[in-house]
Amino acid sequence: MATLAREATRATDPFDVSRPELYRDDTWREPFARLRAEAPVHYVPESEFGPYWSVSTYKPIVEVESLPDLYSSEAGGITIANFDEDDPNAVRMPMFIARDRPVHTAQRRTVSPAFTPSEMTRMSADIRHRTAEVLDRLPWGQEFDWVDTVSIELTTGMLAILFDFPWEDRRKLTFWSDWAGDIEIIKNDELRQQRLMHMYECGSYFRRLWNERVNKPLQPDLISMMIHSDAMREMDDNEFIGNLILLIVGGNDTTRNTMSGLAYGLDKYPDQRGKLEADPSLIPNAVSELIRWQTPLAHMRRTATQDTELMGQQIKAGDKLALWYISGNRDESVFGEDADKLIVDRSNARRHLAFGHGIHRCVGARLAELQIGILLEEMAIRRMRVNVAGAPERVSACFVHGYRKLPVEISKY
Ligand code: HEM
Repeated sequence: MATLAREATRATDPFDVSRPELYRDDTWREPFARLRAEAPVHYVPESEFGPYWSVSTYKPIVEVESLPDLYSSEAGGITIANFDEDDPNAVRMPMFIARDRPVHTAQRRTVSPAFTPSEMTRMSADIRHRTAEVLDRLPWGQEFDWVDTVSIELTTGMLAILFDFPWEDRRKLTFWSDWAGDIEIIKNDELRQQRLMHMYECGSYFRRLWNERVNKPLQPDLISMMIHSDAMREMDDNEFIGNLILLIVGGNDTTRNTMSGLAYGLDKYPDQRGKLEADPSLIPNAVSELIRWQTPLAHMRRTATQDTELMGQQIKAGDKLALWYISGNRDESVFGEDADKLIVDRSNARRHLAFGHGIHRCVGARLAELQIGILLEEMAIRRMRVNVAGAPERVSACFVHGYRKLPVEISKY
C-alpha cells in the first residue's frame, strides 16, 4: 500500500487508470490487477479529469451503487469527465441516467415499457430478420471490417426499430452517438462546440419526428411513449435532447462493442468457440459472459453527497468516484483466477457488473441480450465462424471500451 501511495504522487501516476492509452493499447489489465490486490478504493490526486477515487473491486462497486442518495449520479454526472462542471455558461442536457430520485424514477418509468419481455418478443422477429439480412450480405473468405459491417449496422438498425426512425437515415444515429459518447472530446474547446452543434441537429431531427407523432394514438416506439408520458411530455429542448441522446448512446456503443468483442474474444479463445459451436444451447450464458468479458462501458461515476467511509477510506462530500466495471468484472474473488478468460459456460457469468447495479441498472439490458443472442443464433444457423485477420484498432478512452476497426474473414465450420 505504501509503495502505491508513493508512486501515486509521480507526474504520471501509474495507477491513474483514466489514461486513454491504457485502453487504446489494451494494457489496462495489469494496473487494475494491482489496484484490486493492493488498493481497491484508491485516491488519484491528479489526472486529466481532476482528482478521483478508483473503485476497482466488485464489493465496493455494489455498495456505492446501492446507496444512490449518498453517492449521487446528478451531482457531477456519470463519467469521470467534468470539465465544465463549474462553468455557468456550459450547456446542460439533462438525461435521466444523470438524475437522482425522484426525477430519475419518474422518467425511467416512462421508457421502461419499451423493454418489457412482451416488447422483446414483439421486436425479436424484426431484429432476427435484420440480422439475417446483414449476415447474408457478408463476403465469405474475403477480409472486411466487422465493426462497421456487422456491429454498427446491427445496433443502428435495432435503434431505428426502437424509435421507429426513418430507415434510410439510420446511420445518423451512429454519427450522433459517436459524437456524444466520446469523453476525450471534452478536452478540446473546438470539438466541444462541434459536438454541441451535432447534438442540436439530433434534437431538431427528433423534434420533427415528435411533431409528426404528437396527438396520434400511442404506438410502441420510444418517441410515442415519451409523448404519452406525464413525466416526459413537458421536457424543455435540452432535456428532450439529453434523454434522446441517452437512449441512442446507451443502446449504441455498448451493444456494438459487445458484438465486436464477440468476434474478437471467440477467435482469441478457440476452445471456447469450439464449445459454443458444438452446443448452441450455451448461447444465452455465452451472451452474459461476452458482456462480462468485454464490459463495453469501463466505468460509471458517482459523487459523494456527504463525508463517508468506503472500505476503510475516508471519502469527503463532493469527491468523485469512478466505479470500474471493467475491473469488478475481473475480480478474482467473484469470478476466480481465470476471470480474465472468456468461458462460455462460466456458471456465474450473469453476476457481471457491466449493466451496473441498483436503481440505474441498465434499462436496455434485455434488448442488448436479445440482440447479441440473435446474432450468435443466426451465426450458428449459417455455421459461420469469424476469424480475426489483423490487429484491432481500439477506442482510446476510459469510458466506451471497444473497437474502431476489426479486420476479419468468415469461414464455415
Ligand atoms: C444505463 C450498460 C445496452 C439504455 C446503463 C448503465 C450501464 C449500462 C453500465 C448505468 C448503470 C448504473 O449507473 O448503475 C449497458 C451495456 C449494454 C447496454 C453494457 C449492452 C451490452 C443498452 C441498450 C439501451 C440502453 C440496448 C437502450 C436502447 C440505457 C439507459 C440507461 C442505461 C436508458 C439509464 C438507466 C437509468 O439511469 O435508470 N447501461 N447498456 N442500454 N442504459 Fe444501458
